[in-house]
Parts: sequence; C-alpha cells; structure tokens
Amino acid sequence: MPNTPGPGGGDFPERSLTPEGQKIVEAVRSTETELPTLSSVVFELNRLTDDPIASSKDFEAIIMRDPALSAKVLQVANSVYYSAGSGVTSIRMAIVRIGMSGIQDLAMSISLVNTFGKKSKTSEVSIEELWRHSLGVAVSAAALARACPVPTAAEDAFTGGMLHDIGKAILIELDPDLFIRLVQTSHEQNITFREAEQKILGVSHDEIGELYAKFRNFPPRLLPALARHHLPALDNDYTRLDLVVHVADVVVNRLGVGDSGNGAMPAMISSAITRLRIDKAALPDLIAQACAQVDNLLTVLL
Ligand SMILES: [Fe+2]
Ligand SMILES: [Fe+2]
Repeated sequence: MPNTPGPGGGDFPERSLTPEGQKIVEAVRSTETELPTLSSVVFELNRLTDDPIASSKDFEAIIMRDPALSAKVLQVANSVYYSAGSGVTSIRMAIVRIGMSGIQDLAMSISLVNTFGKKSKTSEVSIEELWRHSLGVAVSAAALARACPVPTAAEDAFTGGMLHDIGKAILIELDPDLFIRLVQTSHEQNITFREAEQKILGVSHDEIGELYAKFRNFPPRLLPALARHHLPALDNDYTRLDLVVHVADVVVNRLGVGDSGNGAMPAMISSAITRLRIDKAALPDLIAQACAQVDNLLTVLL
C-alpha cells in the first residue's frame, strides 16, 4: 500500500491508511460531508479571549445573539456546579459569576454536546458516557493546570479536555457500526481504542479530531489537546495543553469516569507527570475531587 499523506496535512511515511481509514479521512476532508459544525458564537467568544481590550459587555453581546445558548448558560450558571446561592437571571450576572474564560468553556461544552447529539447512536458506548468522560477530562485538566507549579500554557485546559476526543464523536457520526467494531475489537483483544483504530483504520481519533478542527478553523492553540493528548510533546520547558489533557485523560480512564471505549487502559507517559511537577500519589485524589462535579454539570448540559 502506498504511503498516504497524514490527515492533518503532514506526512506519516511510517504507516498507511487502510481503505476504511482512507474513507473516514476523505469524509472529514470533504466539504460535501454533512458533519456537525460548532456554533460560530463559540469561536467568536474564543477570539475575544485573545483581545486584550475585550470586556464582559463584548462577551454578553455575542452570547445573547444565540438564544438557545443564552438559556443554557443561565441554566448551568444556576446549577450546583457554579451556584453560590442567589439566582443568576442575566447573562451579565452569569459572566460575573463564572468569569469570561469560564463562559467560553461553558459555551464550548454546550455547543459540543448539542452539536454532536445527546442520544446514543451506538449500543457499545453511549454518547452520554463519552460526554461524561470528556467532562471528567475537562474539569481534571483545569484542576491540574491550577495545581501545577510550573509556568503553564494551559488556560484552555477545560475546553481542551472537553474537545480532546472529538475524533470519536466524529467517528460515531460518520459510521456508528465502525465505532462499535472498534470498541468490540478493543475489548476482545484487550487493547486501547486507539490501538484498535490503528489496526482497523491506520488512523486514530486524535488525528481525525485534528483534521476536523483544522478544516473547521478551530483556534490553533486548542489543537495540541486534540492532536497530541496521547503523545504529548515533552520538548518545551513549560506546561502545554497536551500535557495536562494527557495526564487528566489517563487518570479519568483509570477512575472509570464515563466510558471512552477503551478495552485496555491507555498508558501514562511517566515523564508527563514529572514535567507537571505534581506528586504522583496526589493525582488520583486531585482528579477524583474534580470529577465529583461531573454528574451535576452533565445533568444540566444534556
Ligand atoms: Fe483519546
Ligand atoms: Fe479521552
């Protein structure tokens, strides 16, 4: 089989896509494939966070253009996860309570769950369990970023965690039967979901997610969470988004928060923990504590 250009646009000369993998990559690349697209409001909010003179009024104006999103933001702002007592009755109050970057995280989560569906499309792993996993990784990555003593580039940890397995949601959209086969293979052969993807497709959800994100103009700073959460880059002297999402993902899988289709636990790259300078023994507690919020949050999001 000839070498195939990597789905993210780069080359992966060491391996090739199978015909099924090629079909998936082509479907994600094609403008004719009807794949869900996240609300443009989410990306406008994201752009605002890069704008040093953006104010909460700017955030408010953008959110209020999407009535469904506004209603959900109010609902979540009043949920147990955020609420500290009195009711939040306006988007302005929600921004005060949750903060501007929190609002952006929330908008991304709401849009993601709404866009990729709430109902199970496969009998093997329900999409709800995949969201539970993603939310678990989101709150855990945010907790890790806060706890990490080294300079961090992980302001987007929550959003990165929420998005990291979007490639799996895309696989469910494109071919639910294939997704079921991947989960079954992973369980039957006691391998990770990603290893099953590599066997059956020659491409994995991290690459599929990256490809989707590039074709849909996701902010480049979020891409490492999607593209490298299984293989974080370790060559910089600061904490990257892929690093916190990687560690959060492995621990959340081990704690069994949600289900991301793995028949075997994904491995932790041990130097990732060293890089975060977090006590390995403290990790399960830190992440279990963060994940205690997941059910409350998910109930409101779904
Ligand atoms: Fe993954
Ligand atoms: Fe994951």
